[in-house]
Amino acid sequence: MDSDRDKSIKLYSDHVYPGKVAFYEKYDIVLVPEKRGGCQISDTNGKTFYNCHSNGGVFNLGHRNKDVIKAVTLAMQTYDIGNHHLISKPKALLGKMIADTMPEGLNQVVYGVSGGEAIDLAIKLARGVTGKQEIISVKGGYHGHTGFALATGDKKFKEKFKPVPAGFKQVRFNRLEELEKAVCSNTAGVILETIPATLGVVAPDVGYLKSVKEICEKNSCLLILDEVQTGFGRTGKFWGFENYDVKPDIVVMGKGMSGGIYPISATVYDEKYKDFFKEDPFVHISTFGGSEIGCFAAMKVIEISKEKKFLDHVLSLGDFFWQRLEALGKKYPNLGLKLKGRGMMMGLEFKDEITALFLIKILFDNGIYVVYAGNDQRVIQFLPVLNILKTEAEDILNIIEISFKTMSQG
Ligand SMILES: Cc1ncc(COP(=O)(O)O)c(C=O)c1O
Repeated sequence: MDSDRDKSIKLYSDHVYPGKVAFYEKYDIVLVPEKRGGCQISDTNGKTFYNCHSNGGVFNLGHRNKDVIKAVTLAMQTYDIGNHHLISKPKALLGKMIADTMPEGLNQVVYGVSGGEAIDLAIKLARGVTGKQEIISVKGGYHGHTGFALATGDKKFKEKFKPVPAGFKQVRFNRLEELEKAVCSNTAGVILETIPATLGVVAPDVGYLKSVKEICEKNSCLLILDEVQTGFGRTGKFWGFENYDVKPDIVVMGKGMSGGIYPISATVYDEKYKDFFKEDPFVHISTFGGSEIGCFAAMKVIEISKEKKFLDHVLSLGDFFWQRLEALGKKYPNLGLKLKGRGMMMGLEFKDEITALFLIKILFDNGIYVVYAGNDQRVIQFLPVLNILKTEAEDILNIIEISFKTMSQG
């Protein structure tokens, strides 16, 4: 083995994920991040990339955000994971901070470690409080790989793990008539991402989410919005659903909540349903859920991301990217670029999967890391870090332009 990098790749392949190494080697896009900071990551071989996926929002505030690290370092002088059996000051303080970001009534917070775990609880809650069983999700949507989260997903994710829990149905996103048909007296909840990322970063049609809520109300079932990717400022509002005049019954958050430093997630639900946990406080348990160190990371994330100045910056960056990308689409029409999403949650749809795949490789070679949307591979998920400078955004766009040019000529 001639280098430390080769050794890491071999050990990873031998002991962690052989398939992943083979996949990246096949497309010659092997990246082993070592140094990282702000919107950039550097491979152990020294090559530097702009991270324009941000791991779906984990790195909304950049890599190794100094303020989050400071908050966590300080917390470590006093706290640890905490004891989930006991009352916790950090959990209480964070709970209040989260409640303050929500519409009235959405003030009950249950912590988890991952997005999938928080989704599982949301579904348990919907079933538990309504006494009904069916859950309706969106075809091509994605809520995680844990038990109930997996059950909401597409066939391809669950086929190998049958039998998966029963009572799950799917409808197409933005098709109210399909939802209306699917809802029945046994529907406990409807779950969707505010902007489904894996489906191809598809924004909801005007009035869609509001109508979904009305359908839920009419049928006495709960609306669960998955804000794992859209939350914490990604769209220019603190919560993605604030763009769409809708009040969910349950909100799920994760990824960006960690500040990219310490894993934490949460399920927030309407106080109307708090008797469920009053009757049996042990109805859902997570030892590491809302670890106290993680609470300090999340509190710092909220403090930074709820600032008007921060959200204005996201909006203005979003406008800048949209305008420049639209112009590039016109300049290179043979790529068939269509822009999707909202704010800094963007999907770059190309005319076909092969164009998107080649572009991912060209962008990679030119120093931009992005991935495609798993359930629509014509779409590159484009989620740059939210606190990047305008000069960095310009540099990213210049690299994109060079890459589009290469692709157009090839
Ligand atoms: C929208 C959405 N929901 C839920 C999840 C699951 O989160 P986790 O991987 O932390 O379980 C993801 C992960 O990518 C996601 O994008």
